[in-house]
Amino acid sequence: MQHYLANEQRYTNGMQYNRCGNSGILLPKISLGWWHNFGAANDYDKCRSIVRFAFDHGITHMDLANNYGPPPGSAEEMMGRMMQDDLRPYRDELFIATKAGYEMWPGPYGNWGSRKSLMASLDQSLKRMKLDYVDLFYTHRYDPETPLEETLQALVDIVRSGKALYIGISRWPLHALKTAIKYLSERDVPPLIYQGRLNMLDKAPLEEGILEECRNNGIGFISFSPLAQGLLTDRYLQGSVPQDSRMSQARFLKPEMLTPELLAQLQELNAKALEQEQSLAEMALRWILEQQGVTSVLVGASSVEQLKKNIKAGCE
Ligand SMILES: NC(=O)c1ccc[n+]([C@@H]2O[C@H](COP(=O)([O-])OP(=O)(O)OC[C@H]3O[C@@H](n4cnc5c(N)ncnc54)[C@H](OP(=O)(O)O)[C@@H]3O)[C@@H](O)[C@H]2O)c1
Repeated sequence: MQHYLANEQRYTNGMQYNRCGNSGILLPKISLGWWHNFGAANDYDKCRSIVRFAFDHGITHMDLANNYGPPPGSAEEMMGRMMQDDLRPYRDELFIATKAGYEMWPGPYGNWGSRKSLMASLDQSLKRMKLDYVDLFYTHRYDPETPLEETLQALVDIVRSGKALYIGISRWPLHALKTAIKYLSERDVPPLIYQGRLNMLDKAPLEEGILEECRNNGIGFISFSPLAQGLLTDRYLQGSVPQDSRMSQARFLKPEMLTPELLAQLQELNAKALEQEQSLAEMALRWILEQQGVTSVLVGASSVEQLKKNIKAGCE
């Protein structure tokens, strides 16, 4: 591929930015998730085109985790390669996140929320991504067995060490989030952002009070799987499973999830979107961004075309 020079119009071609809670950080309304589509099995040049397109359109925030791939670690390795090939000159324009908490290496320390696991995982992530620090480090899930104070103090120490600039909390229940906010804030490392699944089919963070807790405490909120892994797009509206789709891989999105009831609901939403002269995906993303306290949505995209459509929801 040709040498990369970022688009000079990347901050003036429409992308809107939201302040993340009460912090100094602005995040683009549309951020890019690396969970699927950036593993070892994906074509590097295609992935590179998606990431170049994202950055060229003002998407500064990239969301990774130690275990993204497959295989686990390969999305971070791809980020390392892109750092070398394209992104290094733009490091200070990028806001890169990673996470630890799901199974990553064998034995008792490659999983969950111990100090040992979080610290070792972040060191591995930095090596794979060829970075000195990440902008944001998340605890990827709540660990009911490790004392919360151990996990939280490890996060404080990670920030103090300079290996991460900010801390994020992902998928923690409300009671644990409250403890985290208090513990971290008392140590001058308030959490920057909460990451949870919020979309037109799954409103749990609204219903469970997570979004309100974030809003009341000046913490940002970022939605993962905002398109319900592709259900809230035109992908499955015919009731069949396209060959190249995520559902065809039957890993996290399985064909049996596409019930007649869900299909009817999706078709109804699509009709509503058409009335508003929008695509279903665009309407679904805009709905999330309209919720009070939402900072950004983390979209996945398996092509530049998809990303191009999704970006519209983050522009004026
Ligand atoms: N914290 C956590 O535990 C957690 C969990 C899950 C995800 N995440 C984060 O959230 C990010 C996004 O999650 P997600 O990938 O599930 O997001 P998503 O945006 O809900 O789904 C992405 C998929 O939807 C389809 N799609 C996207 N735009 C489309 C369009 N315009 N038209 C048609 N189809 C379209 C594509 O499916 P095809 O591949 O079929 O083309 C794409 O791979 C992840 O990458 C990750 O960073 C975090």
